[in-house]
Amino acid sequence: MPDAEAALVSPLLEEIDELKRERNAVVLAHNYMTPDVFHGAADLRGDSLELARLAAETDAEVIVMAGVHFMAETAKILSPDRTVLIPDLRAGCSLAESITAADVRGLRQRYPGVPVVTYVNTSAAVKAESDITCTSSNAVRIVESLGVDRVLFLPDQYLADWVDTQTDVEVIGWNGACEVHERFTGSELDELRAGDPELAIIAHPECPPDVLAASDIVGSTSQMTAWVREHQPARAVLVTECSMADNVARDAPDTEFVRPCNLCPHMKRITVENIRDALSAMQHRVEVDEAVADRARSALQAMLRVA
Ligand code: 13P
Ligand code: SF4
Repeated sequence: MPDAEAALVSPLLEEIDELKRERNAVVLAHNYMTPDVFHGAADLRGDSLELARLAAETDAEVIVMAGVHFMAETAKILSPDRTVLIPDLRAGCSLAESITAADVRGLRQRYPGVPVVTYVNTSAAVKAESDITCTSSNAVRIVESLGVDRVLFLPDQYLADWVDTQTDVEVIGWNGACEVHERFTGSELDELRAGDPELAIIAHPECPPDVLAASDIVGSTSQMTAWVREHQPARAVLVTECSMADNVARDAPDTEFVRPCNLCPHMKRITVENIRDALSAMQHRVEVDEAVADRARSALQAMLRVA
């Protein structure tokens, strides 16, 4: 972060630190947060799976989720005795919006006996209708852990397509998509590659199949980050949300990050200002109906037992 920007943000970060001490709070930040949130305000960082584990394990009384709503809901379901805050209630997700609990019940009727694997980017109500959840980092392992010939895999059609290429299990998908990752195209990556044969192309599995076919590495946000840290490529493109490259740059100072990237408008609703306000006013509290939470917890815990 440039010095002038850091000077502006540092009084806010001091306020956040003070409030965290007063409230016995931790800030969990997803890898897509802007660097001031990710490196400045956060105590713990990660992809969806890591954030779920961290939320389940924390001793803090208050969890502030610097991420989107389904992540805050997951934290509340796994840590029901904690207060979970999300700084902006509008921080949603196009995948979570793409499927309802009634849709899952309909699919179960259409495919009797086929287990339902649900991506964590879903509402608590959808998780409650599922046998097991998964994230982008463990999707293949979760599908194979069930020991069946076919699964329903909801709601991301592209993640489902990708899992289908990695396993012999038949994967039946849904038509959800991430509004950020579906915008990338294989042809834009082919063009980048043609101009720079050494470029490392690292993509998130929410991208369409032609994008993944044009990529060297496919993985969750933390798996993408770990690959860059380990390999320190001269040039890399992270085919995912824009802030990832800014956050990883600190650990890969010699890597030149080639754009394109796309912004997630939901993740970008979280700022250092509204994290401070959330801790100050203890808002917005995330609550999940107990009966729904109990069933959603079973699906989440089934995942955490596998991977
Ligand atoms: P990760 O689990 O890979 O962090 O993905 C979460 C997400 O929302 C990607 O768009
Ligand atoms: Fe949802 Fe896509 Fe944003 Fe991730 S990047 S939170 S999947 S809309």
